[in-house]
Amino acid sequence: MTTKTILITGGAGFIGSHVVRLFVNKYPDYQIVNLDNLTYAGNLANLTDVESQPNYTFVKGDITDQKFITELFATYNFDGVIHLAAESHVDRSITSPMEFVLTNVVGTVNLLNASKELVKGGKAFDRFYHVSTDEVYGSLHDDSFFTEQTSYDPQSPYSASKASSDHFVRAYHNTYKLPVVISNCSNNYGPNQFPEKLIPLFINNIRQEKALPVYGKGENIRDWLYVVDHARAIDVVYHQGVLGETYNIGGHNEWTNIGLIKVLCKIMDRKLNRAEGSSEKLISYVTDRAGHDFRYAIDASKIQKELGWTPSLQFEEGIEKTIDWYIENESWLSFVTSGDYLNYYKQQYSK
Ligand code: NAD
Ligand code: TYD
Repeated sequence: MTTKTILITGGAGFIGSHVVRLFVNKYPDYQIVNLDNLTYAGNLANLTDVESQPNYTFVKGDITDQKFITELFATYNFDGVIHLAAESHVDRSITSPMEFVLTNVVGTVNLLNASKELVKGGKAFDRFYHVSTDEVYGSLHDDSFFTEQTSYDPQSPYSASKASSDHFVRAYHNTYKLPVVISNCSNNYGPNQFPEKLIPLFINNIRQEKALPVYGKGENIRDWLYVVDHARAIDVVYHQGVLGETYNIGGHNEWTNIGLIKVLCKIMDRKLNRAEGSSEKLISYVTDRAGHDFRYAIDASKIQKELGWTPSLQFEEGIEKTIDWYIENESWLSFVTSGDYLNYYKQQYSK
């Protein structure tokens, strides 16, 4: 028997596919509706293991299409929303900021409006859960951490669009009493990430013995969390997070880019039976990203103390699992890096 119908947006993407898998398998009494427009980053091959489950439905559609969203909500009368659909890559936001405004801001407001109408119509609505990023807090230049009280200071078109959407979510809570919750997570890594982001891009390039384009001096710092641990946190926040609250999610796992890249090179040499040091020779320092945020680091003590969530995997284990997945799923990599990817790659890296 279905007890709840939950809309997950962006469920064919990297993090969304892990959230869909967790919810479909863990909650057989929930009907999970995955709404995704299947942009270059969305791929139904990420979900072949759950696609025939009776409690899973896929709907292809665009969150910027207000009429479509209104009809979707009328059809399904959702009990809750977990919103992940977004344009998510900083480099693309630098070349095409308007796409980020449309999907990340307008798309989010469309979903908020549709949720608000359900509540207005008397629906007992669980919550609108907005999945956001630590990048809204800006760039750290000392050894402090982002807490839930850190002021927003987004620096890229991507983070500005996510910050804007976070503000709209809070405004709907304050103005219309929409039940909402927000989480802001650090950089994720793991299976199914589109190979435009650092880790899968570099694994794919090492595999093909292509140059590894390190921006600037490689000294920027990111805080990496295994994607399945983020999905576990999303489950906890959806079910136990206090309405109106924000939760920071992170792995307390900071790496300089160059430090992380050297670890990747070393493990790949071992896994591919290549001479030690051969992948490091592919490192190529290229022009820095415009406005490149220096350091992100999350203080995740609130979610740990209040909701009992902690990461389950150490980085050493997570990165081995991740590399194994990309090596074993070469056909996935080849599939997603055909077609448009080649044009993107040329444009991004031939500057
Ligand atoms: P992704 O780019 O892999 O996936 C995004 C998904 O959204 C894709 O399946 C895409 O098809 C879909 N989508 C894009 N535009 C759409 C539209 N207009 N209508 C419907 N669907 C659309 O992104 P991801 O890395 O999985 O990130 C998911 C969410 O988590 C995003 O909101 C992102 O801001 C947030 N987040 C990501 C990270 C990270 O490290 N990747 C960290 C913290 C937060
Ligand atoms: P990315 O995976 O794009 O995530 P984000 O910018 O959202 O943190 O990049 C992670 C870090 O790696 C960031 O400091 C930029 C850097 N980077 C490179 O040095 N070279 C690359 O080709 C890419 C894609 C990223």
